[in-house]
Amino acid sequence: MSEALKREAAAQALTEVRSGMRLGLGTGSTAKHFVELLGEKVASGLDVICVPTSEVTAAQAKSLDIPLSDLETLDRLDLTVDGADELDAALNLIKGGGGALLREKIVAAASDAMIVIADGTKLVETLGRFPLPIEVNRFGLGATRRTIAEVLLAHGAEGGLKLRGEDKGTPFVTDGGHLILDAFFGRISRPEALSMDLLNIPGVVQHGLFLNMCSKAYVATPDGVKRLLK
Ligand code: A5P
Repeated sequence: MSEALKREAAAQALTEVRSGMRLGLGTGSTAKHFVELLGEKVASGLDVICVPTSEVTAAQAKSLDIPLSDLETLDRLDLTVDGADELDAALNLIKGGGGALLREKIVAAASDAMIVIADGTKLVETLGRFPLPIEVNRFGLGATRRTIAEVLLAHGAEGGLKLRGEDKGTPFVTDGGHLILDAFFGRISRPEALSMDLLNIPGVVQHGLFLNMCSKAYVATPDGVKRLLK
């Protein structure tokens, strides 16, 4: 899907931003457009303070002179705008394709509202076509991986687990210093149960299912930007 459509979704989300807001800034190619557009507004006087969800977004925001803070200084945020790898009609999401899921979830959970911006290819009937990223501690990787594989089996996953970056010779390391296992489900029929089963595994730091966190989405299609509400 074209960058122009992602930018349109980002521009729609920007119309919801008001001076004085505390914002969470997402990560990924769609969120990057939002940060760029926000930077233009800040340059022309918009007064916001932002918490980035990754080192990459922090660097982009700094380069645009967008004021940054953290969740020690700010206890709550008004709004987080972020991309997604998949979203369904109930606005449940899979995130973490870019590896920033942990900070993305912490920031979204600290926000009064979360808006997702995406192109139409991300909209699915049932989550799971996109491999679910699971962030794991490096310690005990083998044991954690085996236990996650059992959970996959119990949830009818069509595929297995892949350590991100393994095929390139160097595992991908998150901003938090953890690893990511991508889980190939095909379809996730019981997302709430899967979420709990994964979080019960000690080596799992977090997973990319964002359930009941997003209240609105702007989805850009060639026919225009659709506004989806929860
Ligand atoms: C980053 O970890 C992800 O959650 C991204 O927000 C998500 O992958 C969407 O990225 P794109 O906008 O690049 O598709």
